[in-house]
Amino acid sequence: MTPSLSLLCLPLLALFAQPIVGAAVVPSGFNQSITRSSQKQIASGSSITYGKISDSLSWQASGPLYSGCNLNGVSISDCYQFTLSSDATKNLEDYSTTSPRQRTEFLTPSAAAGTTHRYRWSYYLQSPVGTSSHFFHLMQLFSRDDDGPILTLDAINGVIAIKDNYRDCSKTGCPSISLSAFTNKTTIHDVTVTYGPTKGSFKYVITDSATSKVLLSYSASGNMGGNASIKFGTYRLAISNMQSSIAAAGDFKVLV
Ligand SMILES: *[C@@H]1O[C@H](CO)[C@@H](O)[C@H](O)[C@H]1NC(C)=O
Ligand SMILES: *[C@@H]1O[C@H](CO)[C@@H](O)[C@H](O)[C@H]1NC(C)=O
Ligand SMILES: *[C@@H]1O[C@H](CO)[C@@H](O)[C@H](O)[C@H]1NC(C)=O
Repeated sequence: MTPSLSLLCLPLLALFAQPIVGAAVVPSGFNQSITRSSQKQIASGSSITYGKISDSLSWQASGPLYSGCNLNGVSISDCYQFTLSSDATKNLEDYSTTSPRQRTEFLTPSAAAGTTHRYRWSYYLQSPVGTSSHFFHLMQLFSRDDDGPILTLDAINGVIAIKDNYRDCSKTGCPSISLSAFTNKTTIHDVTVTYGPTKGSFKYVITDSATSKVLLSYSASGNMGGNASIKFGTYRLAISNMQSSIAAAGDFKVLV
């Protein structure tokens, strides 16, 4: 069970970080000697900070976050790059907790039960990706009314998988694909969601940007939360023997 995410209730609007403009610092675990002059660092990685890309997309970052990407094979025009350290004492959301997490996520505005939204974004997760049995969310339908995620897309136990906290996956058929089917390529994520405690619905399709092939899809109905957001990025429990995480996301669109 994914732990409760009460920290999300922080007053985001009060905490917008100022962008750090200028020479980008290469995050630890990401050794590239090329000058990253096309990038602007917007979160330092030394503490969690919050900001807004637009009225329809905010971010929260405990790891370094850059506007602009310099990863091979990423085809995202409006691109943001983020890394999480392999060091379980770094890039933490809360340095005092016994359950340390590393979090860099984008999130849509909190929306009420009964409202319908369709979002699309592009995403890239670089291989290798260290996984374990502990949570590592790439997407969440996060419900403040339920104080936690309704369902998630996870990198877990060597696969990319849908985890549904409110339905029986043996009945809904929560899909999973191999890491290699998902990593080192730009993927397009299309979510249509109607929030709501009983009459909600959710449809999620992930395609390969280069081939348009559907890599994973999931549909479900029932509890889809309320006062909820779609979140995407990298968010994981910080454990020993992790690998650093390198990802990119962007080209976010509100379709409905
Ligand atoms: C939605 O969640 C936020 C953050 O927890 C809270 O401040 C707000 O009152 C909630 N709104 C509703 C309508 O419940
Ligand atoms: C890391 O980058 C530096 C230059 O910034 C280079 O000297 C060093 O050899 C690199 N190390 C590895 C392991 O690639
Ligand atoms: C994935 O891309 C990274 C960065 O270009 C590269 O170092 C790595 O070898 C690639 N992995 C695979 C399995 O292709």
